[in-house]
Amino acid sequence: MPLLQIEGLTHYFGGLRAVHRFHTRIEPGEIRGLIGPNGAGKTTIFNLTTGVYRPSEGRIVFEGRDITGKRPHEISRLGIARTFQNLRLWVNLTALDNIKIAFYAQIRYGLAGAFFGLRGRRHEEERIEAEARRLMRLLDIEQYADVVVSALPYGIQRKVEIARALATRPKLLLLDEPTAGMSPAEMMDTMEVIRKLHDELNLTIWLIEHRMKFVMSLCQHIQVLDFGEIIAEGPPDAIRNHPRVIKAYLGEMVEA
Ligand SMILES: Nc1ncnc2c1ncn2[C@@H]1O[C@H](COP(=O)(O)OP(=O)(O)OP(=O)(O)O)[C@@H](O)[C@H]1O
Ligand SMILES: [Mg+2]
Repeated sequence: MPLLQIEGLTHYFGGLRAVHRFHTRIEPGEIRGLIGPNGAGKTTIFNLTTGVYRPSEGRIVFEGRDITGKRPHEISRLGIARTFQNLRLWVNLTALDNIKIAFYAQIRYGLAGAFFGLRGRRHEEERIEAEARRLMRLLDIEQYADVVVSALPYGIQRKVEIARALATRPKLLLLDEPTAGMSPAEMMDTMEVIRKLHDELNLTIWLIEHRMKFVMSLCQHIQVLDFGEIIAEGPPDAIRNHPRVIKAYLGEMVEA
């Protein structure tokens, strides 16, 4: 059974058709790529998958369950997490607090918190702190735990956001341009981090990315979107030399 299956996904913003009959089938353990020029509809597909928008048409099935039209917190609880193209962090709080807040948000929706006594709550807080630090270690950012986010380099901020997404213990992680704004060194580092998350957490990953080198070396299968439609899909080699892909980009992102 695929982890995520999407069929006939179409979405309109007023008169603008942002996504047209998109489909996909992502198997457990895959690292899947979604690429395409600016405005192609990539982020909209993530927004539809995570319940930010309800699709005009189509069906989204996660682990055999129809999640079309479910609300973001329900989808998050079922095991899909995501990061945003533009970071959404509490810039005046520390990295550690940002990650702890993600754990608390999850508990609030789970209602578990309501039944704890004072002792239970303290125990819960310790557990959350330990879990948050464990994620920071995994992402190799533990040394930044007490630094206010606005003072952190961009690459580290991106990792804090990934840690926040992981707080929900997802099975599927959606990354929207995880290397945007990064230096080449930060990009290489992020590539390693994604591989590590994939291997150690048994995560399935679906990523949107503009940097070809990044997508090509991480993903086994790539879908290319243009004007809301799939114009090509396949393994990296097939994509790299695909005439429609080259045309869509006009060489814009062929280099690393
Ligand atoms: N909330 C919205 N309301 C109206 N139009 C929108 C909205 N969100 C996106 N669009 C439009 O839908 C189209 C697809 O946008 P989307 O953000 O999905 O593209 P993208 O492939 O992620 O592009 P980029 O690479 O620039 O991030 C664009 O024409 C965009 O202007
Ligand atoms: Mg986008």
